[in-house]
Amino acid sequence: MKIGSQEHRDAFCRHFEQTYTEYDPHTLPWPELDEAALQRLRTVPFWAEVFYTERRAGAIVAAFTETVSDPVLKEALALQGREEARHADLIRVMIDKYGLDAPERPLEDISDNIDRRFKDFGFGECLDSFLGFGLFKIAWQSEFLPKEMLQIFETLMYEETRHIVFFVNWMAYTEAQRGWLSRTLLPVTSFHYYTRALRRMMGLAQRSKEMNDGKNFAATQVSMFLDGFNFRRFLEDCYSENSRRMGAFDPELLRPSFLPQLAETALKALRLWNTRSNLAPDSATSS
Ligand SMILES: [Fe+2]
Ligand SMILES: [Fe+2]
Repeated sequence: MKIGSQEHRDAFCRHFEQTYTEYDPHTLPWPELDEAALQRLRTVPFWAEVFYTERRAGAIVAAFTETVSDPVLKEALALQGREEARHADLIRVMIDKYGLDAPERPLEDISDNIDRRFKDFGFGECLDSFLGFGLFKIAWQSEFLPKEMLQIFETLMYEETRHIVFFVNWMAYTEAQRGWLSRTLLPVTSFHYYTRALRRMMGLAQRSKEMNDGKNFAATQVSMFLDGFNFRRFLEDCYSENSRRMGAFDPELLRPSFLPQLAETALKALRLWNTRSNLAPDSATSS
């Protein structure tokens, strides 16, 4: 299948629509939480940010959809916009049901430069999802929340995975249509957008640190979540979870490759580093 062809467009749009899941956030099997689980959920400091991000995502995708004339792309994008709006609804239902402290902030103005915003948003989702895959695995392993609750988030993670697969195919298709697809250009474009996404993520981390100062995630909660945390293992989890989740998609479609390749290189370097440091005492004694 030639990237940028009509066959490519039909394949990634059809796949996106065929993997749609119907559900209503209000009727999901929300579990009754005991006091300890409820406290853990309430001390997570980023629900307000997640709520805002999903509402903003819905608004950006909906506004971008309006600018697209190709009916096949438009229909698939409209579906993504509805899914993002449903994510916001899901978070809203959770906030109300469990009494979480996450007020609704007014949305920023997203009306200008919508093409750029949509691309920033798409690459941002690729970065968030790649790191989210690793964090979500830690959440399952540490049993930070009841499994019924994590199962609900699993639905959301699956949809985000579909979004990023759709996005990288849309990006490659769009660039090819403009005659821009080349082996050298795509990594350069990706690098540019990932740098912007990372900068935004760091800005956000700084802002939430300032906002949450004084009402920090209690030390016990952090240690439960991050007990035995080790950067290399986290990166391995991100990488392997990415491969596992991407394995569910049609092999003909493109999938995000920039971050997995970067992680693969970093992991190889870390393994080499570890092997060398493990060998070091032996070589010292033998010499
Ligand atoms: Fe979302
Ligand atoms: Fe998304």
